[in-house]
Amino acid sequence: MTETHYTLPGCPVPIALLTDAHDADPAPVLASVRANAPALIAVAGDLIRGRKPTLGARMAESRNALALLTACARLAPTFVSLGNHEAYLSRDDLDVIRATGAALLDNSWTALDLGGARLVVGGLTSGYYTAYQRTGATEKTVHSPAPETGWLDGFAAEPGYHVLLMHHPEYIRFLPPAVELALSGHAHGGQWRFYDLLQRQWRGVYAPDQGLFPRLTGGVVDGRLVISRGIGNPAGVPRLFNGPEVVYIAGPRT
Ligand SMILES: [Fe+2]
Repeated sequence: MTETHYTLPGCPVPIALLTDAHDADPAPVLASVRANAPALIAVAGDLIRGRKPTLGARMAESRNALALLTACARLAPTFVSLGNHEAYLSRDDLDVIRATGAALLDNSWTALDLGGARLVVGGLTSGYYTAYQRTGATEKTVHSPAPETGWLDGFAAEPGYHVLLMHHPEYIRFLPPAVELALSGHAHGGQWRFYDLLQRQWRGVYAPDQGLFPRLTGGVVDGRLVISRGIGNPAGVPRLFNGPEVVYIAGPRT
């Protein structure tokens, strides 16, 4: 388990970013989170088991993911947003997530005071969830459906330090300028990583919704989008030079 630490100016409290758990064993993740003692834990989607988002999959079947949320919620305020693998969950499944003690942010936001700062935390739900709920469209019938963004302006106008959980890094195009920090996963680091000698950086080979040689697979983009390479591996092919990753973000003085 790789721990990656980023320092971002203005970040008022230490934050842990967990993504793409895909029902992986929670033990190594929890050991890392306990050791790092973040003030806030962001779980930015793709909790559930399975290689593909699966019709009929139920949240209760992903016991490791639920155990992860339950343990995190005991350690620090924990927020969850929905990824594409959650696309076909029912309203009852969302209640199963809420029962862990983590706060589910489904195209919604909440504000809280932490460490003397006011944080405004939102969750931008995967467009795949929104499309399925609205029209029954599945990933077989719709490609990269747009998320529901109508609420983002109100979220951004709320005073405080804005943290937006958004599973899909390609949603960077929807980010209001006032949002200081966005947290993503989904790309799994591009599955196989290689060192690009021309660009002098590690790059990924493929990511869903971005295709071959994706631009957004890890690291910090535009100083405010932090992308985790994720914890689990549902793809059925091994991850190369791309170990599971837990990300920590803090300000210079936190
Ligand atoms: Fe995903």
